[in-house]
Amino acid sequence: MSKKTDFLIIGSGIAGLSYALKVAPYGKVCMITKANEDESNTKYAQGGIAAVMYSPDSYKKHIEDTLIAGDGICDEDIVNMVITESTERINELIEWGAKFDKTTSGNYDLAKEGGHSEHRILHHKDNTGFEIERALLAAVHTHPNIEILDHHFAIDVLTQHHLDIEVNSRTKDIECYGAYVLNLKKNTIETILSKTILMATGGAGNVYATTTNPYIATGDGVAMVYRAKGKIDGMEFYQFHPTSLYNPSENPSFLISEAVRGFGGILKTIDGNEFMQKYDVRKSLAPRDIVARAIDNEMKSRGDDYVYLDCRHLDKEGLIKHFPNIYQKCLSIGINMTTDFIPVLPAAHYMCGGIKVDKKGKSSINRLYAIGECSSTGLHGANRLASNSLLEAIVFAHHAAMDGIETFEKVNFCSSIPNWNAEGTAHPEEMVLLIQTLREVQAIMTNYVGIVRSNIRLQRAFDRLEILYKENEALYLKTTISPKLCELRNLINVAYIIIKQARERKESRGLHYTINYSKT
Ligand code: FAD
Ligand code: SIN
Repeated sequence: MSKKTDFLIIGSGIAGLSYALKVAPYGKVCMITKANEDESNTKYAQGGIAAVMYSPDSYKKHIEDTLIAGDGICDEDIVNMVITESTERINELIEWGAKFDKTTSGNYDLAKEGGHSEHRILHHKDNTGFEIERALLAAVHTHPNIEILDHHFAIDVLTQHHLDIEVNSRTKDIECYGAYVLNLKKNTIETILSKTILMATGGAGNVYATTTNPYIATGDGVAMVYRAKGKIDGMEFYQFHPTSLYNPSENPSFLISEAVRGFGGILKTIDGNEFMQKYDVRKSLAPRDIVARAIDNEMKSRGDDYVYLDCRHLDKEGLIKHFPNIYQKCLSIGINMTTDFIPVLPAAHYMCGGIKVDKKGKSSINRLYAIGECSSTGLHGANRLASNSLLEAIVFAHHAAMDGIETFEKVNFCSSIPNWNAEGTAHPEEMVLLIQTLREVQAIMTNYVGIVRSNIRLQRAFDRLEILYKENEALYLKTTISPKLCELRNLINVAYIIIKQARERKESRGLHYTINYSKT
């Protein structure tokens, strides 16, 4: 069975939804998403979205903060573009219906997070992402040109490979024609052909054992594009958020927003001593790579499972008003954040690298765009500045949409893509194989490719992963497709790329910290 559309969007987070709203007036939009339509990293974003709104803040300051956090390898053109367009794009988000908190004077209530020299984070209490996702979905639902197919899982993008034309190099002219999609409601594999294809599949936090990301974050977009021989870069820079709630029985880990430290929360070891002054003059509000590494070091050298975030000295009412969800969550496990320490530890949080794209969100594969967390635009360099990712998604949605609108009518559908061939496959007999392999991948990544790395750890990770890769590919070829099997395959691909790119970077920079090379 095959379907045709002008714009195929894979993913319904902030990136996919805002792009959909932009292209919908010009053509037919088909958005597929693998779970409920609102399930995404976007939905869980807490702190907010960074933008320059009022003086004394300025584009110059936000640009400087972004470049400093990125540790010398941001693409300056891209940083300039994203930051100088921030106000315009935020206003558009507000027009689409997103509501951000205001002060009594009627101005937006801007918060501060690590690495920011000014208060510039627009937020909706401590569940900004939920509000953005709500508003965008509501706007999308009213558009007659947009069809959302939930519980539709993209398996692979379609290229010349599916026409039996060999494409050997990542630099040759590769064309994308659409995607093979598993319709989970009917259990059928469908072919969706499209004039333009947008990858907006988000991050891959589940490649690590502890993550703030929901279960959908399995790096599917990066893995699909990698298999289609598209360019992927920056994957060695996986960002760990310094403060996820220590609650061993919970997966994913609940985030304690950086905005809590922006509000005055202080990191302490479990004997109650401050430690961040040993690592950075900005103390608890230093950029994330520095804070996460400092916590990791304190935990490992002291043999502790967590550190504390201390908010007991802060204005109680203000704390509860700004962070009602975090307050309630802590209470639910017996911690009153106004009177008790909050136990926290770092967790995998954000994929700074991804599908390499240009200023217009175009990947190295023709007709295939990538935006949001699955893309690598050059904005984040070696370390993302807090709350710059939601901003990046809306700015690139705009540029990708402008380019797609201009070009899609000149493109013809590819008529010779064969239907999915499931011959020779059987139903999976042993779920235990998938579960155990996933645990092994996560253990390898956490122990050898986490916050601190070394040549020997990376070599070991590479060797161990190769065994899992071979076992899983063999299983994939003879088993009926299921989301769990595809996600595992994708996570193994993503783990492989992270390790490969980490081994290629012979220095410590930003989030890639290795004991074999000092910082340059
Ligand atoms: P997502 O929002 O993750 O959406 C991806 C979509 O793709 C989902 O709908 C998913 O189901 C779908 N999908 C994936 N694979 C497939 C497939 N194979 N087939 C079909 N559909 C698929 N950033 C900030 O700027 N500020 C913050 O305050 C902030 N807080 C955060 C807090 C948490 C707990 C987390 C996890 C992240 C936070 N981030 C924050 C990061 C930010 O939320 C994400 O980077 C951003 O929302 C990513 O948006 P996206 O649209 O690219 O991807
Ligand atoms: C947070 O609220 O700390 C998350 C912000 C982000 O990841 O940008």
